[in-house]
Amino acid sequence: MSLFRKKSVEHMLAASAQNAGLKKALGALDLTFLGVGAIIGTGIFVLTGTGAVQAGPALMISFLIAAIACGFAALAYAEFASTIPVAGSIYTYSYATLGELAAWIIGWDLMLEYGLATSAVSVGWSGYLQSLLSGFGVSLPMALTAAPRAIPGHATLFNLPAFLVMMAITTLLSLGVRESARINNIMVAIKVTVVLLVIAVGVFHVNPANWHPFMPNGWSGVFGAAAVMFFAFIGFDSVSSAAEEVKNPKRDLPIGIIASLGVCAVLYVAVAAVVTGIVPSAKFMGISHPVSYALQLAGQNWVAGFIDLGAVLGMLTVILVMAYGQTRVIFAMSRDGLLPAKLSKVHPRFATPFFTTWLVGIFFGLIGALVPLNVLAELINIGTLAAFSMVSIAVLVLRKTHPELPRAFRCPGVPVVPVLAVASCLFLMFNLQGITWAAFVIWLAIGMVIYFGYSRRHSKLAK
Ligand code: ALA
Repeated sequence: MSLFRKKSVEHMLAASAQNAGLKKALGALDLTFLGVGAIIGTGIFVLTGTGAVQAGPALMISFLIAAIACGFAALAYAEFASTIPVAGSIYTYSYATLGELAAWIIGWDLMLEYGLATSAVSVGWSGYLQSLLSGFGVSLPMALTAAPRAIPGHATLFNLPAFLVMMAITTLLSLGVRESARINNIMVAIKVTVVLLVIAVGVFHVNPANWHPFMPNGWSGVFGAAAVMFFAFIGFDSVSSAAEEVKNPKRDLPIGIIASLGVCAVLYVAVAAVVTGIVPSAKFMGISHPVSYALQLAGQNWVAGFIDLGAVLGMLTVILVMAYGQTRVIFAMSRDGLLPAKLSKVHPRFATPFFTTWLVGIFFGLIGALVPLNVLAELINIGTLAAFSMVSIAVLVLRKTHPELPRAFRCPGVPVVPVLAVASCLFLMFNLQGITWAAFVIWLAIGMVIYFGYSRRHSKLAK
């Protein structure tokens, strides 16, 4: 039974009610900005290229499928987040509702999501930085431009810019720099402007002939791309982690989650339509900056340069937010005794988990430098989809075990919507590659060994 031991929901709610330390200043619009800031990044700027090769112009449909799956999951997520609006991620929520083992699995999955996402976005950042530099005639030695075997037919060894940007972000985080709402809003403005620029300028260069064939690889290509493009929506969950600073969490949290998802879905479909209309989809093979590349081919070099610059600036916040989330999940798990206490040690001067920040920064920096982006994206997706499925199941469980909890936001159509969320997450998971599944199963197995070998005995709850 100890596998199902739970933190008390009532205690967590009381703790959050007493928590007067954090200013409750955020409204629905701030949350939407927060979400969009975390969402728009490598997915749309880089993976669009791989997606276009796989799905062809039907990439638009792939984006829609991914968005719908996220939408179902977001509705379930929002109920979860608005029922227990305490700081922390779904790891914390599930500890109170599903019990320790499920919380461990979710926390372990989240490490895959946040940690590898920092690596993946640093790789995307590197592609755009290199495109920007090439505009000034500067290029790196080939070996240092990408991970081994990342670009077909080129001898690449180490993605140096990706590694360096991770070290820079790690330095900031370890010194206690957090993204402020103001910086986030500026970044969102930059990213949305860049995306709108792509659409507004690109639309005049669309040659509808490029939209034929619409589905060169049939539905399997469309579904496969949807499973990869899911990555582009990851981050909407970051809204929920601001719960304690929201004026009216029960109303604003769900609005923030769903609005940020909706805005991004519309922008993504439009970008997919434009870039596949400018360039025949197969040409995106091996291109690390597909969106600015499309504008370059359209002869819009200045616009392409602005896109490079906007992407380079805008992706920094995604890395920062993901790296922050990563260290805080580890911090929470360590504080609960599930991971060694050293990992939640706070630096006396900087008041940050200094050791953990550097440990994960260097580890995921090396991963970003050495592993190709597509591999990373698939792994991140499978971890995140698994976590979202569990959250959706948790909503159903929670309705049974804690029917009395006040829920300002109730997921509509229970049990149908949470069931659809689980089904669509599983559907996307099954459209990922076999090798991704193998890696995921190994990751879970390692997690189980650590849980049963260490965490179960050291859990604070056990004492
Ligand atoms: N959705 C985020 C991105 O695309 C992770 O970079």
